[in-house]
Amino acid sequence: MARVAIIGSGFIGRAWAISFARAGHDVAMWDQSSSATDGARDYIAGVLGDLAANDLLRGQSAAAVLDRIAVVAELGQALAGAVHVQENTPENLEVKREVFSLIDSAADPQAVIASSTSALLPSKFTDHLKGRHRCLVVHPINPPYLIPAAEVVPAPWTSAETLETTRAFLIEAGHAPLVMKRELDGFIMNRLQGALLEEAFRLVADGYASVEDVDIGIRDGLALRWSFMGPFETIDLNAPGGVRDYVDRYQGIYSNIFPQMLRRVDWAGEGMATVEAERNKRLPRENLGERQVWRDRRLMALAAHKKKSDQEFGQ
Ligand SMILES: NC(=O)c1ccc[n+]([C@@H]2O[C@H](COP(=O)([O-])OP(=O)(O)OC[C@H]3O[C@@H](n4cnc5c(N)ncnc54)[C@H](O)[C@@H]3O)[C@@H](O)[C@H]2O)c1
Repeated sequence: MARVAIIGSGFIGRAWAISFARAGHDVAMWDQSSSATDGARDYIAGVLGDLAANDLLRGQSAAAVLDRIAVVAELGQALAGAVHVQENTPENLEVKREVFSLIDSAADPQAVIASSTSALLPSKFTDHLKGRHRCLVVHPINPPYLIPAAEVVPAPWTSAETLETTRAFLIEAGHAPLVMKRELDGFIMNRLQGALLEEAFRLVADGYASVEDVDIGIRDGLALRWSFMGPFETIDLNAPGGVRDYVDRYQGIYSNIFPQMLRRVDWAGEGMATVEAERNKRLPRENLGERQVWRDRRLMALAAHKKKSDQEFGQ
């Protein structure tokens, strides 16, 4: 097993620490603020019990996984011997550039340096580095210890070896990497999510549907299949002759509606008042925190169910 460095130990850093320690790695967490690392350890200790109860620790005890996570006081201590460095500092280009400079000059020569950035292109904060060939983005969905997909995004100068090492490292840790061929704004998942949200806002803003009806369409409709297969496999199975047959039969429907979808809708515009009022009625703002806890429990139950079903029915 390897050593992994977590640089920046807020929401995402602490969540990656769980995932990598569960995979058997020794994890060293560092943050410029010691209150962040202290908070992270408490958070991790709390979550590990729930994961053990849902059989999501690969058969290990919560204590055994926690034992592999160390909080360190200096950046250099975190980097010493690490083969994978996961950077999770704030979404700010100047901060990323500076932190990457520090990491690149102190990390072991063979180490891969990955950023969790949600939207910054890796070429924007690694161009100046001597070791830029070993830098890339590994973008998770929160929390990565429950949601396996992680976007792997190369800069133009990221080496093929770095990409392959990272892909293998993630798979071995139980993740499902999507490896992009080259960088693009929004990577893959935010582009897909953005397309869906844009249409959801348009349907509400133009007065065709309620917020709840849009949610039902996904929650009790499309997402049932999407929770275990993607849109391409979905259409491959949705026409007797497979994906080409689907396109022959149904592209016409979509060709008719796409021109209507080209007009941008302002998410903060008139539709927002409707969206907010409807959401507020269903979930008073003071109950948001409680509902987030409910969401995390449901996610854990879903992860446990998917794991069991993968074994029973195959992936
Ligand atoms: N929160 C999410 O859902 C989510 C999902 C995917 C990716 N991300 C990305 O992960 C990264 C971290 O986001 P987060 O939500 O964990 O933020 P956060 O604010 O919870 O954590 C950031 C941490 O970085 C520390 N920090 C600030 N400057 C630093 C520096 N120079 N050196 C070391 N540590 C420093 C802060 O003390 C803080 O603990 C961002 O790039 C974000 O876009 C976030």
